[in-house]
Amino acid sequence: MEIIRTVAELEARTADLSRQGRSIGLVPTMGALHAGHMSLVDRARKENDIVVASVFVNPTQFNNPDDLRTYPRTEEADCALLSGGGVDIAFIPSVEEIYPEPDTRVFDLGPVAEVMEGAMRPGHFNGVAQIVSKLFAMTHPTRAYFGEKDFQQIAVIRRMVELEGFDLEIVPCPILREQDGLALSSRNVRLTPEQRAIAPAIAKTLLESKEWAKNHSVEQTKRFVTETVNSFPHMKVEYYEIVDGKTMQPVSDWSQTDEPVGCITVYCGDVRLIDNIRYQ
Ligand code: PAF
Repeated sequence: MEIIRTVAELEARTADLSRQGRSIGLVPTMGALHAGHMSLVDRARKENDIVVASVFVNPTQFNNPDDLRTYPRTEEADCALLSGGGVDIAFIPSVEEIYPEPDTRVFDLGPVAEVMEGAMRPGHFNGVAQIVSKLFAMTHPTRAYFGEKDFQQIAVIRRMVELEGFDLEIVPCPILREQDGLALSSRNVRLTPEQRAIAPAIAKTLLESKEWAKNHSVEQTKRFVTETVNSFPHMKVEYYEIVDGKTMQPVSDWSQTDEPVGCITVYCGDVRLIDNIRYQ
């Protein structure tokens, strides 16, 4: 596996590969890699001639300086995983390399970015659009792979792709879970053993709510999930919304969407966990 740290080198390599007609699969990550990321790499490996994975903790998408400071950084272990997973190029730039000067672009991301994470983390999605648009412009990917755990992020990236006119396929990949149901996340390592033992209650409650939803209203289902998760020690639901899976707009009646998706954010102690479930 080749490790590239400069934008100029990445651009030269990927332009060359594109000229040769090789398809490029891009897996953007912030490192602290786990099996969830590796499932994106596997998929990219199967569908493309060349796999590029980026490892970059993007400061512009963190609205909370503490979250940025404590975000796990594990470059050596990440490289070992990427190399073992058959990645051809790992792009691991510094902050100065990506942002030699501040990125002042403001994307008109519209309603998909205004609710849920957009409402709770002002500026977060604009930061995601900034880094992902830069990565797309540098890498010329044929396909780019994103995990469905960050469900709303995929809708925002699709919107950014439309705004910027990138010609590529966005490939959403299913959530990977621990055996006890907890969605894999780089943040899970920050849970204390006691919190880690309770955290699977999120996925378990979402799953139970699928049954509940069959004969309850949207409002009742939201209340069921929120009250059940909040009844566990250490857990505090930040929001639970049931939205249309394309527009991300909250629905108040099941008939308003043919793709209902429940999206939850929970503080388990001070660790912010997210998860989601499809109701169909
Ligand atoms: O999902 C993530 O890890 C990040 O938001 C991404 C897409 C790598 C951009 O920094």
